Amino acid sequence: MSEQTVLLNVEKLNIAQGGIPIVRDVSFVLYPGDALGVVGESGCGKTTMLRALMALKNDNTSYDGSINLLGDELTKLPEEKLRQLRGDAVAMVPQNAFLAMDATKTISSLFYETVRVHRRGIKRAESDTKAALLMEKLLLQDPERILRSYPFELSGGMCQRVMIAVSMINSPKLLLGDEPTSALDVSSQMQVVEQLKLLRDEFSVSMVIVSHNLGVIAQLTDKVAVMYAGRIVEYGLTREVLENPEHPYTRALIAAIPDISGEISEGLAGTPPVFTREMRGCPFAERCPEASPVCREAFPEAGMLSQTHIVYCHMMSCDGRRY
Ligand SMILES: Nc1ncnc2c1ncn2[C@@H]1O[C@H](COP(=O)(O)OP(=O)(O)OP(=O)(O)O)[C@@H](O)[C@H]1O
Ligand code: SF4
Ligand SMILES: [Mg+2]
Repeated sequence: MSEQTVLLNVEKLNIAQGGIPIVRDVSFVLYPGDALGVVGESGCGKTTMLRALMALKNDNTSYDGSINLLGDELTKLPEEKLRQLRGDAVAMVPQNAFLAMDATKTISSLFYETVRVHRRGIKRAESDTKAALLMEKLLLQDPERILRSYPFELSGGMCQRVMIAVSMINSPKLLLGDEPTSALDVSSQMQVVEQLKLLRDEFSVSMVIVSHNLGVIAQLTDKVAVMYAGRIVEYGLTREVLENPEHPYTRALIAAIPDISGEISEGLAGTPPVFTREMRGCPFAERCPEASPVCREAFPEAGMLSQTHIVYCHMMSCDGRRY
């Protein structure tokens, strides 16, 4: 166990929507500067889990388990304290910044409103100076012009990069990104990835990045969690998981990446199980080429392939050997 301060400790987290379990038994630890990627098919609970890391929930959402951010237990904090924490300790980059921005307000106003949540008395000029300095550090050219602009005067890629700067204006320790590059063209995607890398490497910001793009995950993260039907089924250093995937689902996800001509060598047949049906055993059993009767009985125990690489599969012994 590292003696480093733990930034985020998620333990046995279960999230239900309207009483229906969505995220189940999720645990992981982040240290300062860690970047965790979360991958998995559509509907497997990535956004639900990510929103919980800011304690964002609707009336139907219930949590069980623990989400401890820098000593604060998010599942128990009153809403007022949570509002303070959001932006200050943890911030979220939206999937599509342009849609998230108010079209009637300049970027200067956007920064100002975000800063004011945490520094009530701050003057607009001071906020502008702070924003321009941050944008410069994040390699955004001509910050003064950006501050004067309305969102529709900026490209989609620029809006995304500006929104990342807005998320960082109150210096949060943890940045959450839900598909932060998926609405962008390839060159804007690269610029956003470079900006996030800069935040990780130069500013030591910790991140949790949800993405369907395994290339983005490979470039940005040092750990990865593979989610299926609301559970983490494989977890480890990004390099180990992407180079030596051991869970049949992770293998299938990697095999389903199209090559340069758009060809997919192996598709993944079927769809994930629906959450309203009771799930017994391994949730991947219906689609798994290696499934055996034991797979339908209980969720597998953790198989430790290394100190950092964990796989939940009945074909793996607890010390990480394949049966
Ligand atoms: N507010 C809600 N009320 C009821 N069910 C919800 C709610 N939000 C999400 N769900 C259910 O939770 C499941 C997981 O949704 P979630 O958005 O977390 O998946 P995801 O992995 O982020 O998918 P995608 O890759 O498509 O963004 C979905 O099947 C959805 O039906
Ligand atoms: S536990 Fe069984 S069904 Fe699940 S991934 Fe492993 S082999 Fe496949
Ligand atoms: Mg999502």
